[in-house]
Amino acid sequence: MEKEINPEILFWEKEERYKEMLSIVRAVIENENDMIANMANVAAILKELFSFLWVGFYLVKEKELVLGPFQGPLACTRIQFGKGVCGTAWEKKEILLVPDVNKFPEHIACNSKSSSEIVVPLFHDKEVWAVLDIDSSEIDSFSPTDSLYLNKLGELLSNQTFK
Ligand code: SME
Repeated sequence: MEKEINPEILFWEKEERYKEMLSIVRAVIENENDMIANMANVAAILKELFSFLWVGFYLVKEKELVLGPFQGPLACTRIQFGKGVCGTAWEKKEILLVPDVNKFPEHIACNSKSSSEIVVPLFHDKEVWAVLDIDSSEIDSFSPTDSLYLNKLGELLSNQTFK
């Protein structure tokens, strides 16, 4: 199960890093279906491979999102449906890329260092059961490459959790 992270990966292109990330995640979660344990390791892997400010999950619990495993500074505990970038991604059932959080009126500022953000909904039976939220301290950190690979990661986690 264990897979060491190659320190040279920090010098690789983003797409190569994402491919390696998926391979590490597969190895780490393949024999484990506890969602919290897997989310915790995924947050750690993403934080270690990329220089993101905050990486974490919010879980759908009744009518709100509740903070799950994360890496990074202290975060908001609960987010309402349709509120913030996370609640909006849940409501719209789509990935949201926010190049500049100051220009996204609904953005909830948990940390003043956050400048851009991506939120990826995770699905089971076409319903959102969690969101993966990543914050960067730089403006415009996220591109369709991030969406593509983080969506693959979301599918991997959902399949493993609900198989
Ligand atoms: N910015 C998010 C809130 C969560 S934190 O970034 C960790 C939002 O607007 O939903």
